[in-house]
Amino acid sequence: MPHADSAYVPQGLSKPQFWEHVHSQLAALLEGQRSWVVNLANTSALIYNALLAYEPHFGSGDRAVNWCGFYIQSALFPKPKTFVKETAQTTAPGFRHLLLGPFCGKPACQLINIEPGRAKGVCADAFISRQTLLVPDVEAYPGHIACDGETKSEVVCPLIVRLSDHETMTVGVLDLDCLVLSGFSEEDKVALEKIATLVANACDW
Ligand code: SME
Repeated sequence: MPHADSAYVPQGLSKPQFWEHVHSQLAALLEGQRSWVVNLANTSALIYNALLAYEPHFGSGDRAVNWCGFYIQSALFPKPKTFVKETAQTTAPGFRHLLLGPFCGKPACQLINIEPGRAKGVCADAFISRQTLLVPDVEAYPGHIACDGETKSEVVCPLIVRLSDHETMTVGVLDLDCLVLSGFSEEDKVALEKIATLVANACDW
């Protein structure tokens, strides 16, 4: 099957069937590939395009998902020193940031502070708490970072990698934005958490 067809959504799927379909398409895309750049790029493209094609719940009009992508710990990027030079606040000792990773949608903010006491925004909060945050109204969320003024709601899942029976590592977050209030449901949250676990553990970090 051509790779682009992974994001094709058959007609008439219920929400559980839709997510089951996306999960199986993702598993096929991740097979035999361990690069996080490749896997996160294809995962964001799959989710974004599948949601836009799923008319009953998202679709491409007023209810559209307008951003889907990843923010990853800066230390995991190949050349973190480049970013240190370019951004004054990253030169402080012990800096910790998330950097923009693969995504679909309009250009977004590049750097999110996750340093204790300076962290701000939904992505930082989800990363630090290691909990998914479902935000029905971004304007009501204290510290929300508005990359796109049209975004009304958001969901952010932490990417948690299982290192051993006793050890896990949070490498970043999966972030989705929507043009309507309460764009994502509890059911979507659970399905996206499954995707976050699947892709995080399918990559070498
Ligand atoms: N809204 C996010 C920032 C990332 S953009 O939505 C792509 C936040 O508050 O962390």
